[in-house]
Amino acid sequence: MEFSLELLTTLRAAARVAVLTGAGISAESGIPTFREAQTGLWAQYAPTELATPDAFRRNPKLVWEWYAWRRELVARAAPNPGHFALAEMEQQIRSFTLITQNIDSLHQRAGSINVIELHGNIVRTKCFNEGTVVDTWTSDEIPPRCPHCNGYLRPDVVWFNESLPADALRTAYETAASAEVFFSIGTSAAVQPAASLPVLAHQNGAVTVEINPVSTSLTHQMTHVLTGKAGESLPELVRVVWGIK
Ligand code: OAD
Repeated sequence: MEFSLELLTTLRAAARVAVLTGAGISAESGIPTFREAQTGLWAQYAPTELATPDAFRRNPKLVWEWYAWRRELVARAAPNPGHFALAEMEQQIRSFTLITQNIDSLHQRAGSINVIELHGNIVRTKCFNEGTVVDTWTSDEIPPRCPHCNGYLRPDVVWFNESLPADALRTAYETAASAEVFFSIGTSAAVQPAASLPVLAHQNGAVTVEINPVSTSLTHQMTHVLTGKAGESLPELVRVVWGIK
């Protein structure tokens, strides 16, 4: 893969780099992206029918079991070279922030440290009523009951029509606005407010880079576009810029 000299020079000199990732960076780990068809048992449901508070109120057992299926999928998945390359990049840059829309922990499992989870994390569970994270419970109901208020437990992820964690979003905006280089990797840029981060970075003078096998609504305004899979282009970019295999 060829990289422009401008991109290589910019990255070598950069002190503040931010990255936004989406489901595409976990595709090569075998986790289906959102806009791909749901597979197997869940093919009959669209995420919008399952990942909402109303869907949970209507059928808490179904929604809990859908996430249990996805949690199992994530537990079986392993970080891919794209995740590892971002963990390497973090070691080379003085101030590096990884903002992810993903809920699969694969960035952390690949060694990334400064990770902002905009949409929560499927491995954490919280009380549907209180919103507090619950680590252990004795209830063997499906969904299990909260040990404090006896309400249902739910995955600690952001559902459609729910607001994002305020601290995470604030830090993401601040990081995007001050980044020298901003990567948008493996996201269709279809969901706000995450999709506004690359635009904010660009407006504040950052060099922006998109990595995706196909073009998105952001492609036309990106400084550099690396058309391809993150698991292939990111390791190559890290090798060429910092000489890391
Ligand atoms: P999408 O499924 O919308 O987009 C995945 C993107 O990854 C697409 O643009 C693909 O072209 C690209 N892609 C596929 N394989 C790739 C690869 N190997 N390397 C790089 N890119 C690849 O997923 P997101 O953009 O993450 O929100 O979706 C954003 C949000 O929409 C999700 O976080 C979720 C969903 O509603 C919530 O759950 C709140």
